[in-house]
Amino acid sequence: MRLAIEQQGSGPAVVLLHGFPLDRTMWANQLGALSDRHRVVAPDLRGHGQSPSPPGPYPMEDLAADVVETLDALGVEPPYVVGGLSMGGYVALALADRFPDRLLGLMLLNTRAGADSPEVARNREATAQAIEREGSTSPLSGMVDKLFAPAHRRSRPDLVDQVAEVIRRTPPEGAAGALRGMAMRPDRLGVIRSLRVPVLVIAGAEDAIVPEAESRAMADAAADGELIVIPGAGHLSPMEAPGETAAAVQSFLARLP
Ligand code: MLT
Repeated sequence: MRLAIEQQGSGPAVVLLHGFPLDRTMWANQLGALSDRHRVVAPDLRGHGQSPSPPGPYPMEDLAADVVETLDALGVEPPYVVGGLSMGGYVALALADRFPDRLLGLMLLNTRAGADSPEVARNREATAQAIEREGSTSPLSGMVDKLFAPAHRRSRPDLVDQVAEVIRRTPPEGAAGALRGMAMRPDRLGVIRSLRVPVLVIAGAEDAIVPEAESRAMADAAADGELIVIPGAGHLSPMEAPGETAAAVQSFLARLP
């Protein structure tokens, strides 16, 4: 499947994968900050943004295969750096699992390596069914608050509105397909252990969705892992703290071969 993409700059490629239920626009600041030295490519994953929304479920392996196919079609030569936020991190890990030789480095932002508990998986199925009945807006409206640190919820209504609008536009088939796909994913801590490339883990100190301990476990599992915790950031570090996130990513990229 050919995905809709945004790209900027030239040089070694950095691929950025967005979270659920968002789209590539969440990376706007990072595209600007990283593109002076890199070709930065940000796709809309299947079912999101302007990419196609075929019937689900969307296993993370399929989303990863879409990304690789799209990069091949664009002539982006491996190895490249792949970074993913939350669901984008699940996709990045599935890509690392299946295509380890394509990686120059892996960046895991506000994400986890673990599988869903049975309860989380059941909740995802219930939300997917509600979305199929009612559309994306109402069943996902509670997510907006959880995505931001409490202070940013108050001080950055522009960001909150921007994210709420992206969620409203997410096609119901796409959101349901992604929810069911996330529920199917296996634990991939072993993938991180087996990687022979540097791994950067970025956590938000106020992330209400991913506890810092899960981020630390990923950094500790990597042979060459580093954890950066961004003060004040919630689940959307690249949007809530764009400067700090870009600085962490830039210093990681600078030490890659
Ligand atoms: C995301 O931001 O991508 C989601 O919170 C991931 C999830 O629901 O596990």
